[in-house]
Amino acid sequence: MTRPSTSPPGLADNYGRVATDLRVSLTDRCNLRCTYCMPEEGLEWLAKPELLTDDEVVRLVSVAVTHLGVDEIRFTGGEPLLRRGIVGIVSRTTQLRPRPQVSLTTNGIGLARQAEALREAGLDRVNVSLDTVRADTFEQMTRRDRLKDVLAGLEAAQRVGLTPVKVNAVLMRGVNDDQAGELLQFCLDHGYELRFIEQMPLDAQHGWSRDTMITADEILEMLGEQFGLEPVDAATRGSAPAESFTVRGGPATVGIIASVTRPFCGDCDRVRLTADGQVRDCLFARTESDLRTALRAGAPDAELADRWRRAMRGKLPGHGIADPSFLQPARPMSAIGG
Ligand code: 5AD
Ligand code: SF4
Repeated sequence: MTRPSTSPPGLADNYGRVATDLRVSLTDRCNLRCTYCMPEEGLEWLAKPELLTDDEVVRLVSVAVTHLGVDEIRFTGGEPLLRRGIVGIVSRTTQLRPRPQVSLTTNGIGLARQAEALREAGLDRVNVSLDTVRADTFEQMTRRDRLKDVLAGLEAAQRVGLTPVKVNAVLMRGVNDDQAGELLQFCLDHGYELRFIEQMPLDAQHGWSRDTMITADEILEMLGEQFGLEPVDAATRGSAPAESFTVRGGPATVGIIASVTRPFCGDCDRVRLTADGQVRDCLFARTESDLRTALRAGAPDAELADRWRRAMRGKLPGHGIADPSFLQPARPMSAIGG
């Protein structure tokens, strides 16, 4: 369908990209303490009055869907299942027209309990973070003994049809980098789609180092021969950040998200909304645009849409992690929303 020429443009930036995929963080809190994300003691959480209410979240999502051409909504955190109103938020989001695709990125804890209600609310898919299937390594990486809950969450998601169930994994040198094959085999056995994500400089403790991160090339080297990996035609990748490989001739695939060593910023179609109502045009952005103040002052949809469009114009062409002058964003990943 072509839009009439009078219709206002969507979320275009100055480099020809248009954001249609909105990631909404519902809370900055989490019940795990992954070492690549948070310190043991947690972080200074956002105060309640700063958080958007359920109604405010739905209002901004509705502006994005009905005025700005956003057709995909992903709820994230912190851990989004800690948000009490999540089922209602999902349900109201799936009732928007045009109906957006709605998914959730979760650590899986609490998913066993909520999967069915989420499915009934119209949730399409989940991405579950899981870096290991060994209980001791899980505890070492997340500082919590919760592997069983995550595995139960994965099974529940599969059972109620939140499929394809995707698993996100981060490999840490000397911690779980010897377990890539084991994790892939586990996912193949259960019909989960595994994607490895290169560790990014987004941890609150600023402990990331280019020299110690496990690269996509290393992962391919580790798995390529054993699993007979063959690249899936790049033409089908579109704006998807994962490079896909078939396993032993397919149909199963494994993905690698090489955010650091093979950045895909030129194809980026994402925009983020933080739990306190700030638009971020990039995970690595050093600035944000406040929508909450205008929202609370009673701004109509058209004004919110305008502010959002303007917020996109400052989107930089790339994240520049490789640049010696690269500076980590002030907020850690858990407060931005993966
Ligand atoms: N680098 C890469 N991935 C990360 N995640 C959290 N922090 C980082 C990081 N510094 C992952 C989580 C989750 C997804 C949203 O991002 O494990 O799967
Ligand atoms: Fe929680 Fe995700 Fe951060 Fe782990 S990576 S502490 S699950 S927000």
